[in-house]
Amino acid sequence: MPIKKAKRMKKIQECSLACGLPESPRMKRMGTETAFDMLVKARNLEAQGKHIIHLEIGEPDFDTPQNIKDACKKALDEGFTHYGPAQGLPELRKVIAEKAGEFRKMTFKPEQVVVTPGGKPIMSYSIMALVDDGDEVIYVNPGYPIYESMIDFMGGKAVPLPLLEENDFMPDLKYLKKKLTKKTRMLIINTPHNPCGVVFSESYLKEMAKILEPYDKLWVLSDEIYSRITYGAKFETIAKFPGMPERTIILDGYSKIFAMTGWRAGYGIMHPELAQALSRVATNMNSCTTTFVQRACIEALTGPQDAPEKMVKEFHKRRDVIVNGLNSIKGFSCKTPQGAFYIIVNIQKTGYDCRELADKLLNEASVACLSGTCFGSYGKGYLRFSYANSIENIKEAINRIKRYVEK
Ligand SMILES: Cc1ncc(COP(=O)(O)O)c(C=O)c1O
Repeated sequence: MPIKKAKRMKKIQECSLACGLPESPRMKRMGTETAFDMLVKARNLEAQGKHIIHLEIGEPDFDTPQNIKDACKKALDEGFTHYGPAQGLPELRKVIAEKAGEFRKMTFKPEQVVVTPGGKPIMSYSIMALVDDGDEVIYVNPGYPIYESMIDFMGGKAVPLPLLEENDFMPDLKYLKKKLTKKTRMLIINTPHNPCGVVFSESYLKEMAKILEPYDKLWVLSDEIYSRITYGAKFETIAKFPGMPERTIILDGYSKIFAMTGWRAGYGIMHPELAQALSRVATNMNSCTTTFVQRACIEALTGPQDAPEKMVKEFHKRRDVIVNGLNSIKGFSCKTPQGAFYIIVNIQKTGYDCRELADKLLNEASVACLSGTCFGSYGKGYLRFSYANSIENIKEAINRIKRYVEK
């Protein structure tokens, strides 16, 4: 075979999908959310008759409140079944601007809001709209895996901002200062944080905003999807500090606080010009967010709030149970999370590798959890548990883990 052709063939083989079809080289840079892989493994074991306790899933185990479901049914009957504007229904954007503004003590306009199918698209759409080849993006690590995946995929340079236990899983601001360069285009933060459960305080965010001030080309993507799920700690947004409203993209949504993960509804709040750019991306990617779902989202934000409040209270109780339980296991140690519904546990003293232990706990103790490495390299040595499960199941999971690890 001629050398040129052989080289081309080799390249195609290197970029092949499992089925043999050629994959684009770009695809090699796309990561994934391995939480879903764990869920598949757990479901396979369940199909074999095993009773698995799910502490891997990042979704509330509560049902979507009835008033939201009713609003959706009504919207279907009223004919909200057609395309809508890519940016989102004006009546929903108005409500989001009001409610998100009230909650953050800021003023937002409807033209700053972009409605998306879930909060997740705000990550990829913002990176797509703002990050060029070689631009640096600093992101929290451990962190939601899609940040790193999307930065890599879009050709940006992913620069991890480690969240270390010795700093209570808060980013070291001196380290951040060192990592900021002229090429830094974006900083991605997340509070309350998945997987560490930390909530960035007002004074801390103020300090961070001050550090970012000289970097005028820099955007901040502030993932606030868990903003209403806190346990005593006060949620604050970096967007409110001087110089920040113009260059912060707030990501929020309904998946977590209204137990609406399957509905696929979320939003971003940003500079109106950037909102136009993201709407153009949305036109290319998804045309619009499902219109009857958007109508239900109006009810979620304006209707009674007792269901989400009750859910947060219940998470609070579960958090205390899981913290005490995990800390009672030999070789395990964890800090008390202040928000979201996850806990990260240091398992280094057990002598296990975290990936190995997550697999063993699933296969031999019938408890599904995630290796810290699912959230980036700085998650090594940790396991992440979600406490979106009943207290009874959490207690049983602790017993199972204890029996396995201390045997
Ligand atoms: C930190 C973080 N951001 C965003 C999302 C995505 O939310 P959604 O389901 O609304 O797309 C998740 C989901 O787990 C998350 O943990």
